[in-house]
Amino acid sequence: MMYGKVAALEATFHLFRPVWRSVLKEGNVINVLFIGDIVGSVGRKALKDTLPSLKAKYNPHVIIANGENAASGRGITQSIAKDFFEWGVHGITMGNHTWDNKDIFDFIDDEPRMIRPANFPPGTPGRGAAVIKANGKELAIVNLQGRTFLPAIDCPFRTSDEIIDQLRKKHKCILVDFHAEATSEKIAMGWHLDGRASIVVGTHTHVQSNDDTILPGGTAYLTDAGMVGPKDGILGMEREAVLRKFKTQLPVRFEVDKGKWQFHGLFVQLDESTGKAKKMEKIRLLEDEWIMS
Ligand SMILES: [Fe+2]
Repeated sequence: MMYGKVAALEATFHLFRPVWRSVLKEGNVINVLFIGDIVGSVGRKALKDTLPSLKAKYNPHVIIANGENAASGRGITQSIAKDFFEWGVHGITMGNHTWDNKDIFDFIDDEPRMIRPANFPPGTPGRGAAVIKANGKELAIVNLQGRTFLPAIDCPFRTSDEIIDQLRKKHKCILVDFHAEATSEKIAMGWHLDGRASIVVGTHTHVQSNDDTILPGGTAYLTDAGMVGPKDGILGMEREAVLRKFKTQLPVRFEVDKGKWQFHGLFVQLDESTGKAKKMEKIRLLEDEWIMS
């Protein structure tokens, strides 16, 4: 009788061992969802529409989004940032359009979840790095801006050394959003930080690249995450205005395009104890094919 009970107990243990192992495994990871440049009202709608399903599918502990184009393509407002946080975004990174909407000066210093490029000149409002705490996990976020085909600012490579060496004294899991134009500069940053940052992901071009890879030192790398915004514009802007600019070289004011959205992002699972990437997956969604679940 007793033997039977033990045998039954052992059988039960073996039955549930795979589940238990996966629970243990899951406890040692940080699931990170990174969302490419959110452009205007169409991009904001896409974010609101998709986040519930993305949360269900990827179970992200930390969600980071680039918000530098969120207000009509130019900067971000406090009200938009508040919406993003309410919908589940834990941190917002920026870039060369950081100061385009003057609203930002009223709240960036007091909002620790807003992160602007760290290599802006000393004394610039806001912060270039932050540690985001969410769902029992901690992820350090660094925002850097490239200087090839963009305004001349401090060296992003030297700035990354200073910040990441400092962060690594306390944090193993670090995400770097490198907001840059040139693919060469971005790839160089990936190799520069391999084994020191957990994720190096590019933003700014609005075109998702197809070079997602985990580098030898364990850094998840993608040249550009892409964008969240109008699908049929030109980088999110109205086609006619952009074409007029190219054809006439006259001053033209660009407006965010209307219409259906596209959603580009990146999911990465990190080993919490080492800070290295275990797996990564690019995300591409289209409003036309989107089915709310
Ligand atoms: Fe940009």
